[in-house]
Amino acid sequence: MIIAIDGPAGAGKSTIAKKVADSLGYVYIDTGAMYRAFTYELLTSSISLSDIEEITKVLEKTNIEFKNSEIFLNNLNVTNEIRSKNVTANVSAVSAIPQVREKLVNLQRKIASESNSILDGRDIGTVVFPNAELKIFLTASVKIRALRRYNELIAKDKNIDINEIEAEIEKRDKLDSSRETSPLIKAADAIEIDTSNLSIDEVVNTILKLAEEICENESL
Ligand code: CDP
Repeated sequence: MIIAIDGPAGAGKSTIAKKVADSLGYVYIDTGAMYRAFTYELLTSSISLSDIEEITKVLEKTNIEFKNSEIFLNNLNVTNEIRSKNVTANVSAVSAIPQVREKLVNLQRKIASESNSILDGRDIGTVVFPNAELKIFLTASVKIRALRRYNELIAKDKNIDINEIEAEIEKRDKLDSSRETSPLIKAADAIEIDTSNLSIDEVVNTILKLAEEICENESL
């Protein structure tokens, strides 16, 4: 069984996907973390983001793995590093490169083929698993999404500015939705949940109920 959760930045995908995965005993695959890890690799090796030839070479040698909910890039734990401002500012450009998507999508499919899985991202229900048994599209107003991200980040960095976060989210939404390869769009058969006025538990319970119904119908 595959559960696909797509949606824009800050809609609550990862928090909700983790909780649903824990409740069901599924593996959680944070596909955004994979794009972030590869972006981190390019930035730390000072490779120009327009040098597709060089990027393709690096891609071939890159190894990305999850171990106990932490992400490893070529055996190095980069779980914290991939959340930096610099990675966030560049990840949409890197994830728009078709060669990057091809490699990471193959890896996502391989990991998910080994267990019941819940994946979150931008193209899970449309491209990675178009036949997923359950597809959810999470949304929330941009103001609410910026506030959530602000609350998450303020614990680590007192100098952050909510207007800057809102602008960054809007910019990323635009880039992710308008790119040619696998843009962020709602799959025709995805169930949309606007999380603006819902608690985390309300969203989690809605998804758990939907998953239960599917399991009963399909006797999975
Ligand atoms: O957590 P947040 O919403 O900030 O984003 P993320 O899930 O960590 O994803 C970071 C970026 O990776 C997105 O803005 C997309 O550009 C890209 N991404 C993608 O293209 N396809 C995916 N399946 C997941 C992420």
